[in-house]
Amino acid sequence: MKSGLEDVIAAETVLSDVDGRAGRLVIRGRSLDDLVPQSTAEDCVELLWNGFFGDLPQGEALRKALGTARLQVFAHVEAIDGALLRLSPVEALRALMARIPDGEDLQPALLLLAAPAVFTPALLRLKRGERPVRPDPDLSHSADILRMLNDRRAEASELAGLDTYLVTVSDHGLNASTFAARVVASTWAGLTSSLLAALSALKGPLHGGAPGPVLDMLDAVATADNAEAWLDAAVAGGERLMGFGHRIYRVRDPRADALKGALKRMENSQREGGNERLKLAEAVENAAIAVLKRHKPGRTLETNVEFYTALLLEELGFPREAFTCVFAMGRAMGWIAHCREQMAENRLIRPQSRYVGPKGKLAA
Ligand code: ACO
Repeated sequence: MKSGLEDVIAAETVLSDVDGRAGRLVIRGRSLDDLVPQSTAEDCVELLWNGFFGDLPQGEALRKALGTARLQVFAHVEAIDGALLRLSPVEALRALMARIPDGEDLQPALLLLAAPAVFTPALLRLKRGERPVRPDPDLSHSADILRMLNDRRAEASELAGLDTYLVTVSDHGLNASTFAARVVASTWAGLTSSLLAALSALKGPLHGGAPGPVLDMLDAVATADNAEAWLDAAVAGGERLMGFGHRIYRVRDPRADALKGALKRMENSQREGGNERLKLAEAVENAAIAVLKRHKPGRTLETNVEFYTALLLEELGFPREAFTCVFAMGRAMGWIAHCREQMAENRLIRPQSRYVGPKGKLAA
């Protein structure tokens, strides 16, 4: 038995390759450095879904189809009531996504991709007592998400920042949420059920729930001078530093640099204190790596994708409690492609467990 299924190969995929030793990520034959910063979310959908849907529109037609799906999803926004608003954004998103009927074709796939993009800004605005902004199907996916969030046209640097984020997190081998999606897809339950399982797996702080707590950590550290002592005490007390460590990467996660690059390109944004936050984050990052080296000498614990995700999404105007929902906007591209890949050559995923409990009494 392999604890945590470490190193177990449980699927063959053409979607992405994570080279944990070299620190290299390839998405559908394109290295991450080659994809960002110039690719849009729509380019990435085209790349990942190509061959998995016979009727996948291309270019402008795909952009329009996704815009129409955003409008269709917006019809469900009126179902958001006080009970949903009392949930965390990711719990409310999960309840809202469950309204999309199960299916396996392009139409439910587009609705499921549009769902986190539309519901997240609507939930956040309603929580703030503001009216949700109706999608504009003529805008690009990222431009519309930022417009629905902030009720203004996004600046070019913000748009590039969100596109870079969504493309960077679009797919990543057989991570916990993608595996969950494939397990459910293998039962033929349908795309909505598969994505609900994936979103539930993503929510945990060991996976896509980490970036909100990264900001909590930066707030608690407060100053660069305090970083080493604070982090040292946290690790000595048995805490995990959010945004560090990875099951596959034994070197720095290449997505960390892609996101840090996007953040730096947004540096001249108007938000006050943005640069101060980045300086503190760099000090915390250096101190964390040194502290982890000291406390866990046998392991290489480096920065993972979630550390700079936190800074980038904050800079884009998303509150920390919604970071996992934004992650789902990007990763849904990969989840859907993986479900289609699983269904195309399906065999029910059904591993074995070894019983180690007490033996029942044998009948006399
Ligand atoms: N801080 C402190 N210690 C850590 C950290 C960390 N961030 N990460 C791993 N360790 C320690 C563990 O406590 C363990 O120590 P031990 O052997 O003394 O008990 C050792 O390193 C190995 O840890 P495992 O849990 O076996 O490593 P695994 O490969 O399963 O962990 C994981 C990967 C879950 C991401 C882990 O590094 C972690 O918890 N990181 C913090 C949460 C986080 O950033 N999650 C986002 C990951 S990226 C993503 O999912 C998109």
